[in-house]
Amino acid sequence: MMAFLLKFISLAIFLSVFAPRSSAIPFIVLHGIGDQCANKGVSQFTKLLSKWSGSEGYCIEIGSGAWDSWVMPLQEQTNIVCQKVKEMQELSMGYNIVGLSQGNLIGRGVVEFCDGGPPVKNFISLAGPHAGTASVPLCGSGIICMLVDDLIKSQIYSDYIQAHLAPSGYLKIPTDIPAYLEGCRFLPKLNNEIPSERNSTYKERFSSLQTLVLIMFEQESVLIPRVTSWFGYYPDGNFTPVLSPLQTTLLNRRTGIGLKKLWTKLGRVKFISVQGGHLRISDSDMQKYMVPYLNDNRRSPKFSVSQWFLSARGAMKDRVRSLEETYLSEHK
Ligand SMILES: *[C@@H]1O[C@H](CO)[C@@H](O)[C@H](O)[C@H]1NC(C)=O
Repeated sequence: MMAFLLKFISLAIFLSVFAPRSSAIPFIVLHGIGDQCANKGVSQFTKLLSKWSGSEGYCIEIGSGAWDSWVMPLQEQTNIVCQKVKEMQELSMGYNIVGLSQGNLIGRGVVEFCDGGPPVKNFISLAGPHAGTASVPLCGSGIICMLVDDLIKSQIYSDYIQAHLAPSGYLKIPTDIPAYLEGCRFLPKLNNEIPSERNSTYKERFSSLQTLVLIMFEQESVLIPRVTSWFGYYPDGNFTPVLSPLQTTLLNRRTGIGLKKLWTKLGRVKFISVQGGHLRISDSDMQKYMVPYLNDNRRSPKFSVSQWFLSARGAMKDRVRSLEETYLSEHK
């Protein structure tokens, strides 16, 4: 038995050392609301990731940038990105997605809805409102914000707002779930939440991601609750308690995108919690939690023995459990 194991280990090491190297696949960055690729923050972020990972990074713009990120419905934003990634020759062999805040939902839309698009390998999510958010993104006190706030209080799930205010596509008021399921046009579809409209293609595509890295910020104050970055949320009908991702998936069986399979069966979801407010990731955390997935040369997890050998699925599950327990004990 021991001899076999040793042989196996040396084979795995041999394969990992001598496996042919391809150059790292490129990545795209999808920015958050009110931001645009021309802004210094996001362009610097893309450049740094490119430099550290040695892979080409592209910030993909949607329409006019900042303004359209507010007013264009997320399905339209997704369609635009889908078209762009299909036209980019650089991405045709596959690519990774880095999502910032709202950009995560567009990225996930591309993974699930983009027919004929190039394959997406790793998905790195920073502060994504994956399970929805119970408040409008912090906007300040200008006239638009006052207007937005008023609209939200009254008519968030109306056709008009859904067609003119991007975040209405993922505002999920826990005390108004029937209206959300009926009127919200984007998130229920993205999360395959409506039984009669479920599409198994979305699930297949989402659960074939190689790695899903979910980064949550400890001092998050934009997304409510912050554990939505890990797919956790409130129970239907109530603002308490905040449920962990496992509880949300177990209790709320409507989410039909295969998150649980991706996570517990395949061990491909990484739950990461970092210090900082919304999107305020430090350079060292970028290097620790993002760069390794961007300079990942492996073509496919299926054919790599060493990858399989090293994946240590059991250890992974334990780590998620302990993260969950810590989370729950802090949020009683
Ligand atoms: C499910 O989605 C796929 C991909 O967009 C589409 O081709 C297919 O027609 C959809 N199926 C149903 C039943 O709507």
